Amino acid sequence: MCGIIAYSGAQQALPILLNGLKQLEYRGYDSAGICINHRKRLKIARSAGKLAALEGILPDAMKGQCGIGHTRWATHGAPTEQNAHPHTDAAGSLALVHNGIIENTDQLRALLVEKDIEFRSETDTELLAHLLSLLMTEQQLNLVDAVRQMAAQLVGTYGIAVTSVAAPDEIVLARNGSPVIIGIGENEMLAASDKAALSRYTRDIVHLDDGEIALLTPQGFEVTTLDATVKTKPTTKLTGPIESYEKDGHPHFLYKEIVDQPETVSRTIGGRLDHQFNTAKLGGLNLEPRELLGVKRIKILGCGSALYAGMAGAQMIESLSRVPADAEAAAEFRYRNPVIERDTIYIVVSQSGETFDTLAATREIQRKGGFVLGIVNSVGSTIAREVNGGIYMHAGPEVSVASTKAYTSMLMVFKLFALMLGRTRDISPQRGAVLLESIQGMPDKINEVLTLESRIAEIAGQYCGVQSAFFVGRTTAWPVALEGAQKLKEISYIHAEAYPASELKHGPLALVTEQTPCIVIVPDDELLAKSIGTIEEIRARNAPVIVITDAQDPRINTLATHVINTPPTETLLQGVVSGVALQLFAYHSAVALGRDVDQPRNLAKSVTVE
Ligand code: AGP
Repeated sequence: MCGIIAYSGAQQALPILLNGLKQLEYRGYDSAGICINHRKRLKIARSAGKLAALEGILPDAMKGQCGIGHTRWATHGAPTEQNAHPHTDAAGSLALVHNGIIENTDQLRALLVEKDIEFRSETDTELLAHLLSLLMTEQQLNLVDAVRQMAAQLVGTYGIAVTSVAAPDEIVLARNGSPVIIGIGENEMLAASDKAALSRYTRDIVHLDDGEIALLTPQGFEVTTLDATVKTKPTTKLTGPIESYEKDGHPHFLYKEIVDQPETVSRTIGGRLDHQFNTAKLGGLNLEPRELLGVKRIKILGCGSALYAGMAGAQMIESLSRVPADAEAAAEFRYRNPVIERDTIYIVVSQSGETFDTLAATREIQRKGGFVLGIVNSVGSTIAREVNGGIYMHAGPEVSVASTKAYTSMLMVFKLFALMLGRTRDISPQRGAVLLESIQGMPDKINEVLTLESRIAEIAGQYCGVQSAFFVGRTTAWPVALEGAQKLKEISYIHAEAYPASELKHGPLALVTEQTPCIVIVPDDELLAKSIGTIEEIRARNAPVIVITDAQDPRINTLATHVINTPPTETLLQGVVSGVALQLFAYHSAVALGRDVDQPRNLAKSVTVE
């Protein structure tokens, strides 16, 4: 998704802006641009395509100590140079970059057409540049007041950074729904849509909230509201290593994130296993044991892979605590005017903590008086800041667009939460001890799955030429099937569908032929015989069957075309090990097809628009 970087200070802005944009590349983008404000002139360079293309067209002299930069993920208009940000007003006196989507563009365009303004792009952002310019000239407003006036007229979401020749060392920021973070340096100030772009330059950051405007100069910043009230903002300290996104010798970020999972899972569960009471310790929930005891229902909300992790989480919670639980797509939930219940805990799940639909669902629940817990990876993200309580995943920054280690950590957090809730109710200390042991053993199990890589790669190579694949599983294997299909389609572009095993014969079986490999996930559980029946059903249609299983039943070897034997795992965690095997399958399919695995077409890492 789009990325913003801004700088004003004592150093040359260009290298800082370019480096910031590099740190934002992982979010997915299709064009980029930079503006340097120097000696009453705005020097602008923009290009379609990747940053390398922008660097290739930069003029020799792009000196200046104040500027803004942007990576654009097309929403209004194609990914061309004309539509790339920054956009300027007609006189070229100010330049603006924008994340988000403005909804009242018709109204704004009509107003500007009346003033005979001609447009040079198809973007909503260009309208903002003209509108600001009008406010500054017609009403004699300074930049910050003009941005405030403009913000009051906007409907939609925005994170904005503007620079103007009228105030060559000032940058004005505004936020509504799209993250904007200020970075405080010494005699320099920065801003970005993602702290990853700031962490190399400062450890002190300030999150802008919706409805806030900030004025940056090299000496400091001031935050005001739409009604010009000055706000005191808390500074957050960035901790941990500088978030520098390196592949560490691996061919892709995705591969690094897959093989890092024994380590990331260790971090997720680290310090959270309570061997005294055989439960999980989860600080930050902001719920007393008594309140946990009163919970009547758990509702989980997320998007994409986070939703699939939520579906698996709902099964874990219901199975271990006997509290009814289910998961739903965050956007569907918020738009169907849901009933919010006092005794329900709403759990929102998000790697980025910025997914617009998940954030909007959070706000809708809270507006109606509901209690929201967040399971979030990105520390200090908007969802993490707005929920009533939460559990961080501690998986570390996830760079590749396709979620792998964050998805796995989501499952682990759900397992910890389910154990803790279960121990307030149904689960005995003895069973708790067994469950704790299985959680503790997960990094080793993942390591075992990683040793299967060459075999998985071989099978992936054999089938990567197919048009379509099916992923099938029952109960606990059903969310895994959904995630396996999701991984394959998003990075290899092979059409993939997931079905609960029992649903095959209600329609999709019509499409099962020798051309459609079916990946069947078979946990060693009480439904094993039924899962074997599913394999038979598919084999009868001559489709190749790839079975991923921790069961040792000889019938599987006889029936299946290929068997990937994962280590025996407690049923509710089986999705973690088979999930890793499916990640490797998708990865090697995509590599064999020569795809851009880290930045698949049309997708963005952090979906901050509706
Ligand atoms: C995962 O591979 C996807 N790219 C996507 O579905 C993602 O899980 C979804 O957009 C939710 O993101 P979040 O976890 O940052 O909220």
